[in-house]
Amino acid sequence: MSQRAVGVGLVGLGTVGTGVVKLLQRNAQVIAQRLGFPLELRRIANRELETGHGLELDGLHFDTDVEGLLADPTLDIVIELIGGSDAARKLIHTAIGNGKHVVTANKALLAEHGAELFDAAAARGVDVAFEASVGGGIPILRALREGLAANRIESLHGIMNGTTNYVLSEMEKTGDDFEAVLARAQELGLAEADPHFDVDGVDAAHKLTLLVAMALGAQISCDAIPTEGIRELSPVDFEVAREFGLRIKLLGIARPRPLDGGGRRIEARVHPTLIPAGSLLAHVDGAMNAIAIHGDAAGPTLFYGAGAGAFPTASAVVADLMEIARAIRRGFAGRVAPLSYLPDHLEPCSIVPLAELEGRCYLIFGVADRPGVLAQLTALLAEHGVSIEAVLQRGGSSADSVRVHLLTHRTREASVQAATAAIARKTFVTQPPRMIRVEEGF
Ligand SMILES: NC(=O)c1ccc[n+]([C@@H]2O[C@H](COP(=O)([O-])OP(=O)(O)OC[C@H]3O[C@@H](n4cnc5c(N)ncnc54)[C@H](OP(=O)(O)O)[C@@H]3O)[C@@H](O)[C@H]2O)c1
Repeated sequence: MSQRAVGVGLVGLGTVGTGVVKLLQRNAQVIAQRLGFPLELRRIANRELETGHGLELDGLHFDTDVEGLLADPTLDIVIELIGGSDAARKLIHTAIGNGKHVVTANKALLAEHGAELFDAAAARGVDVAFEASVGGGIPILRALREGLAANRIESLHGIMNGTTNYVLSEMEKTGDDFEAVLARAQELGLAEADPHFDVDGVDAAHKLTLLVAMALGAQISCDAIPTEGIRELSPVDFEVAREFGLRIKLLGIARPRPLDGGGRRIEARVHPTLIPAGSLLAHVDGAMNAIAIHGDAAGPTLFYGAGAGAFPTASAVVADLMEIARAIRRGFAGRVAPLSYLPDHLEPCSIVPLAELEGRCYLIFGVADRPGVLAQLTALLAEHGVSIEAVLQRGGSSADSVRVHLLTHRTREASVQAATAAIARKTFVTQPPRMIRVEEGF
């Protein structure tokens, strides 16, 4: 090795941090052979010194002094792996202020405060890299920034949260309800003790915010993304979906929607989605992730892999370290557009309201088990312009109620919303109506 090492510091020695240390140690040779110089992890800071991860840290500067690490002149790159918002935001600002390049996996932070952090990095001439924040080990951000850079992206559909995909796959396979499967996922370490971010779609919305910027050059607010989680799904939904030739996945979906007269809005949403059982995404099971992207030149592409876990996530973190280290050695670090589009070309965009969507819908009604109810239900749907493709009736929550499952023809969502609101007011309704959107043709 002719060139001197690039110095790296790590803050946060949890699941991913431990994976990064192990990967840097295990693959030091191959990393140096690819770079032409070594990456040297010189310093680690963590809140606790008891790591219990069986790490070999001899010779490494390891303490609780985060500020000391951020100011250490021997470090070129700082890795932030503490997670959360406030402390991580402050940490990254301090690192940037000290002239350090930063690698992070913190999608929650970037979705909320990315613009401010990227601006600060650009002003200081350093890079902020975040491949691990979306899709874990899948190099999806690099694919958008490099491999697909010549394309106009026409649509993006992703299974972006492994916890929810595991829960949905298990509910479908076992017929167990949401709470039982979630409890199993927690025992297996596949779901957090507080699963809110995962099961309510918040994590997927964070990732979608970053993907929309990278794929479409559009700045959207993650709080404005219509987001529904998976808590309301019941085992019978999976049975009925199968009979309709569909499967249920929690998808993040985005596409640009040009406006007449110029400009555009962005269709961006996260919700349980029925997709054709034969589609590639329908076959992504367990904790795996997959993102399907349609480019105007490349056509359909699909990226599949482990969306979380110590080593898959470390794979993405270390790839970022290597990219920045190369740029440092070549003298052009700090000149990469982190969101793929140059900052001047990232355009604030509004999100298309759900009411304007058009597609097939699966509707579930709990209704009184008496003659004439089904006729009233379908009449109310017809009054609002919602026509029915298929109907199934299954047992309800009590002896005198049944569940009616309907698949509509393509309809504007505003019509479905108006029809279900009208139906919900009827006395024959025993449970509030639910709706799952069908997405096809991607
Ligand atoms: N886990 C995954 O598979 C995965 C996948 C993709 C992205 N990510 C992202 O990667 C990041 C890290 O996730 P993780 O799963 O590795 O989290 P984790 O296991 O909770 O690890 C975080 C570590 O940082 C330490 N820490 C927290 N606040 C600190 C502070 N202010 N100063 C110093 N140390 C601090 C924690 O110490 P204590 O234990 O004492 O709190 C813990 O050791 C998060 O942004 C997460 O969203 C994780």
